[in-house]
This record gives sequence, C-alpha cells and structure tokens, in this order.
Amino acid sequence: KDYTEAELYRPNFHFTPQKGWMNDPNGMFYYNGYYHLFYQYYPDSNVWGPMHWGHAISTDLISWTEKPIALYPDEKGYIFSGSAVVDVNNTSGFGSLKNPPMVAMFTYHDMKMEKAGETNYQSQGIAYSLDEGLTWTKYDANPIIKNPNIKDFRDPKITWDDIHKKWLMVLAAGDKTMFYGSKNLKDWELLSDFGKNIGAHGGVWECPDFFPMQVEGTDEYKWVMLLSINPGGPNGGSATQYFVGDFDGKTFTLDESFAKDVKQQKGLWIDYGRDNYAGVTWANISEVDGRKLFIGWMSNWNYAEKVPTETWRSSMTIPRELALIKEDGHFIISSKPVKELQNYIAKTIKKESLKINRETVIIDKGLVDLSKLDIRFTIKDLKKDVYTFSFSNDSKNKLEFGINKEDNYFFIDRSKSGNLAFSDVFAKNISKAPFIGDFDKMDVRVIVDKTSIEIFYNNGKTVMTEIFFPDKPMQYFTVSNANAEYTIENLIINQLNF
Ligand code: FRU
Repeated sequence: KDYTEAELYRPNFHFTPQKGWMNDPNGMFYYNGYYHLFYQYYPDSNVWGPMHWGHAISTDLISWTEKPIALYPDEKGYIFSGSAVVDVNNTSGFGSLKNPPMVAMFTYHDMKMEKAGETNYQSQGIAYSLDEGLTWTKYDANPIIKNPNIKDFRDPKITWDDIHKKWLMVLAAGDKTMFYGSKNLKDWELLSDFGKNIGAHGGVWECPDFFPMQVEGTDEYKWVMLLSINPGGPNGGSATQYFVGDFDGKTFTLDESFAKDVKQQKGLWIDYGRDNYAGVTWANISEVDGRKLFIGWMSNWNYAEKVPTETWRSSMTIPRELALIKEDGHFIISSKPVKELQNYIAKTIKKESLKINRETVIIDKGLVDLSKLDIRFTIKDLKKDVYTFSFSNDSKNKLEFGINKEDNYFFIDRSKSGNLAFSDVFAKNISKAPFIGDFDKMDVRVIVDKTSIEIFYNNGKTVMTEIFFPDKPMQYFTVSNANAEYTIENLIINQLNF
C-alpha cells in the first residue's frame, strides 16, 4: 500500500470522530464562545450499533476538538437522535439563572421491546448538563413522552419560539411530523401534526427541524421545516427536503406558492447530492451573530456502513449558513459554507478570465494541494452545451461534475472516482439536480477535502454534496466543454491550510 488509510481518506477539515462509527448530528447549540456538536456514535465498531451521543466543540465551526462521550445507552434503550438547547431562563429548574442548564431531548430506542415484536419501542427522554455540555444527567422521570403506538416516533428537535413565547418541539412520526409545546421542557402538550400526503414520501420521515426565518432583504418571516427521508431522496437513498409556510403557534400551513412548487417537483431538497443527511440547525446562536447554521451527516444509508475506511466511519458536511430567499414569487433555501472557512486560506491563485476550448487543465500537479480547496468561478453566457469539471490523478481516477445545459441539470459523476467495489449502488447512476438559474451567468463554488466535494451553484441555491474514494490523491483540475468555446471569469483557487 502506498498510502495509509488516514493519508488517503481522513478529511483535512471536516469533522470525523477519531475512531468508531458516527451518523446524524445531534443537539447542536452555541454557548460561551463554543459551538457544540453532538452526534450518533458507536465507539466500539465501525458500523452502527448501540447508540451513544459523541461530543465535539469548536470556537469557529471549522476546527473541532473531540470531548468525552456525552450520553451512553442504558436499560431504557439506545440514545437515538435529538437536540439540545440552553435553557437561559432556567424554565426547567434543572439549573439556575446564574448557571443555566443545557437540556437535551433524545429518543430512547428499546431494543428488547423491538425484538419482542412490539411497536411502541421509541419514546422521548431528556437529560441536562450544568457544565456546558461536558457531562449530562438523565432525568429521573424519563421517558417524558411515551409512545402513542406509532412505530417510528423519534428525533425530537426543540426550538425556543420567541414569537409565541414557548418551547416548541417537532419529531418524526412515521409518515408525518408532530408538534409539541412546553413551558418547562419537561411537560409537553401535543399541538398538531403535519405532512401526510405532502412532499416526498419514498421512505420514513426522520430528523425534522422547525424554525422561523426572515425572508432575505425583507421584514417578512416564514417558518421552515427541514425533514430527512430514507429512502426516497432525489438520487436514491437518504436526503433532506424542506417546507416553507406559516405557524400560528399550533399548526404549520404551507405557503401557497410553496405548496404548488412541492407538488410539482415532488419535494424541494436542501442538497441534491447523495451525501448530506439528517442535517439540522444550531440552537442558541447569539442575536449578534444571527445566522442559521446547519450541518449534515456526509453519507447515505445506502452504503454508509461499507465505505472503505476502517478505523472510523463518516464525516460531517462543512457547516453551512442557510438563507430563505423569495424570487419571482417562489421560496428557496440557499446554503453557503460558513464564513470562518476564509480564515484558513494558505494560498490563492486568481484568473480574471479564462477561455475554455475543449480540455483545459486549470490546476496541474504541484501547483496547489488538491486535497483542501475552496474554488470559485463564474461561467458567462451559458449555451446549450455540457460543462464538465473534473478532479483526476495519474491512477486514472476521475471525479466529474458540472452543468448539462442541453438537458438542464447539474450533475456529479463518481463512476470513475476510485474505489467503488464496496457497494453496488454507490456509483450506479450519476446524481442530478434540476438546473435553476439564468443563462448569462452562473456562479460556482466548490469545496474539496480529499474524499468529498460540496458544490454550491447560483449562490448556494442548488447544492450537491458527495463523497468519493480515490486510489491516490487527486492531482489535476480540468475543465472541458462538448461544443462551444466559453469563458470562465473571476476564477479564485484557494488552497486551505490544515
Ligand atoms: C437517521 C436515524 C434517526 C435515528 C438515528 C439512529 O439517520 O435513523 O432517525 O434517530 O438515525 O442512529
């Protein structure tokens, strides 16, 4: 072997656990200078197992320090996905105003009950921390929300609803979500449900999130629901859709224009790539900051347990800032990498204008390190043509992405990207996203970290995230076109420093 597993596969700047299995991000909040990230974690193996909550902290969302495991499974079950908030006013009474408690809500998954063939094996429990999330005490009276005889009843996400002045919680319940309200984080009242026959239903609904967002550039706000589904994603397996509407403190109603869009497109997706799942947002982001910050699990249940890493499995996406945009009467959520990434630029190469005729190598071996890049450029005057960009190496590995303007879609093709043998479906089809944007200019931003690519088109209005496993590091970045010559403008290649 020419490379160690870590050299070849371990990301430079995306969060991965030192060892063991990781899936969904859980319980993210901000407090006292630190962004907290918890996650579904099984330390004893590289496949899914008895779920714990792992924990990591960061001051800038980019460099993470792993902390001791926060929650362990117990006699009531495994600790499935959930959320956490800083209870600033000590509404729960678990702490004090001086030392506000962090309160986490998670799903108890009782394996014994499941094995015994019962259906009500998922219920909700809470735990609190009085030392900034380092150690947690489970509440004596758990479970605080018993199972109402619904088989999939999980992934509670709590938000402080400052408009209706109460705690709000949403969880996934089979093919719908259910809303609950509370004054003290312990006693929860069922408010309503949402989602039957709305949006994509190709699989179970999981990991919802629900929060108000200001429509960019206006005073108007709308409520947004993020909702993960597995399977049933636009390119197979797991993916996360979203909904935009209004909430009166009890019921969520889709915005009329959004309802039409969802119906027509059978779902609108936070990310059309195959590797961004179960993503949710940070709680308690300070008002000064004001951002809606998101992170997802950069894998897919179709092959997550088989990817060719041994010591650890899975990584998170780059944290992203979400925005709610209204354009021509349609709502769309855009994502962009958090601005903190800019503090890690080691070297920049700029080209103001570049004529592309057939194949043009933009980055050649040795110019920059292709395993840690943030690239931006604009394509002018798009024609009916296929715009292909590729990362490649001397081992004939090639990861292609781009815009097919003949048939109007964005794509990623990882069918020649290196190791594919671990899964039949990993590279079976190319991944596509519907083309949105106009013909005169398209801006593109690409984040590359050894084994992942995150592409943000049109200011992040269409996103595609995928992983790949080359046999040796990528060495070239090439641009090609099928027919007409075209121009790339404002090309900026940032090599990051990690
Ligand atoms: C989503 C999910 C959640 C569940 C967790 C278990 O990936 O299936 O619904 O809580 O993973 O690890």
